[in-house]
Amino acid sequence: MAPFDLIIFGGTGDLALRKLLPALFHRYVDGQIVAGTRLYGLARDSQDDGAYRARVREALQKSLADDPRAPTALEPFLDLLHYRRIDLNADAGWAELATELTDPQRVDSERVRVFYLAVGPDLFGSVGARLQAHGLTGETTRVVVEKPIGHDGASAAAINDALGHVFAESQIYRIDHYLGKETVQNLTALRFGNALFEPLWKAEHIDHVQITVAETVGLERRASYYDKSGALRDMVQNHLLQLLCLVAMEPPSSLAADAIRDEKLKVLRALRPIENGATSQLTVRGQYRAGAVEGRPVPGYLDELGRDDSRTETFVALKAEVRNWRWAGVPFYLRTGKRLAERMSEIVVTFRQVPHSIFGELAEPIAPNQLVIRLQPDEGVKLWLMNKVPGPGGLRLRRVPMDLSFAETFGGRQPEAYERLLMDVVRGNAMLFMRRDEVEAAWDWIDPIRNAWQASSDAPKPYTAGSWGPSAAVALIERDGRTWHEDAG
Ligand code: BG6
Repeated sequence: MAPFDLIIFGGTGDLALRKLLPALFHRYVDGQIVAGTRLYGLARDSQDDGAYRARVREALQKSLADDPRAPTALEPFLDLLHYRRIDLNADAGWAELATELTDPQRVDSERVRVFYLAVGPDLFGSVGARLQAHGLTGETTRVVVEKPIGHDGASAAAINDALGHVFAESQIYRIDHYLGKETVQNLTALRFGNALFEPLWKAEHIDHVQITVAETVGLERRASYYDKSGALRDMVQNHLLQLLCLVAMEPPSSLAADAIRDEKLKVLRALRPIENGATSQLTVRGQYRAGAVEGRPVPGYLDELGRDDSRTETFVALKAEVRNWRWAGVPFYLRTGKRLAERMSEIVVTFRQVPHSIFGELAEPIAPNQLVIRLQPDEGVKLWLMNKVPGPGGLRLRRVPMDLSFAETFGGRQPEAYERLLMDVVRGNAMLFMRRDEVEAAWDWIDPIRNAWQASSDAPKPYTAGSWGPSAAVALIERDGRTWHEDAG
């Protein structure tokens, strides 16, 4: 790969230090970032390259332990890294940056230039305008933006307009880091690289789908963002709906970015709206109270926040439906929350029961087959099947998994989502990024839920930290005669 320039606005922030620079470092260790590449951290503080490199060196300590090749690569990697002071709301620093990035003595006109806007969305427009004013938005420029892209459909459209004013849609990379996770990419491989599943992948054979993204963390250091956002905006609008799209979409004709995005968009547009009256039937929101997570006592959300009047939800469960021929009548149960019993994300596809049992009375009744795609931790895939228990004592059946653990099968470390995503931007591959219309279609479905919650006098249901959320979430699925999946092997 040719040398490139990657410039991180918000270069001293949490995302840059915890995720982006470690991801770049791993790509460097793997030989994907070549000499001549320039990485820039940009922020307001004054410091020189040396001080910035020292901060990044510290942030990379954990990465050093992950790969035996890493320690010798550290100093040469840091040599690629520079710090520049810039004022996002004023002119200071911009002209110098532009001169450096376009200096014909040092870079040719074909060089790929990536601006990573790891800053609040309110700044996207003004940063874009300044980049344009300094001639930095040409064809070889790409811009990466993180969520939150707005807090509702209207604000998302305004942000997309501001970006669209300066960049062509093909230059804009909207990150949803869940799409970069290995197991999420594997979902596409499983569905479309095997002839086995696709004929069964429809309402005729699938009873329901569950998507769970459970976290043990609480507010971390993001109280002011999170309290304005809540789990519906923070997790469902993006990560969970993207997972739903990948499960439900029609086979795209190729892996071309727009072929996939067209199919995901159709799913989003086919979601049955959840409005007013239906909200209390089809959604549950919760907020954690004090409890214990992984054996450690933790405070409740309001204590962590230091306020007692917040109605922000830290948990959501809901029942969605995709209104099309393939999925008519198949519920998609989604749930996500903070301070739950364990960190665990998975997609569970439950097939229908056998139409007739030839086995008569069984000690263990026939359970439907389940395909469980485990995103984290212990990435892997399990297919639960009924099997005969060996032995002569009559016919006994037991539900057992065919188990494909990524770690056992493929060994090595699992790359972090950002490693793949950042290099995809450099290569110009937008397959795992969201297009404007997808983001806005997702908001169109989320907004009425949010509005109904806001209009309701009900507060979020309390749940104890370290549990699986409010009991109403259990009732949501049990009303339909189903249960949330629990791993039993
Ligand atoms: C982020 C959310 O997008 O995803 C966080 O803003 C959440 O609230 C995080 O903790 C979860 O990501 P992961 O990769 O740890 O599952």
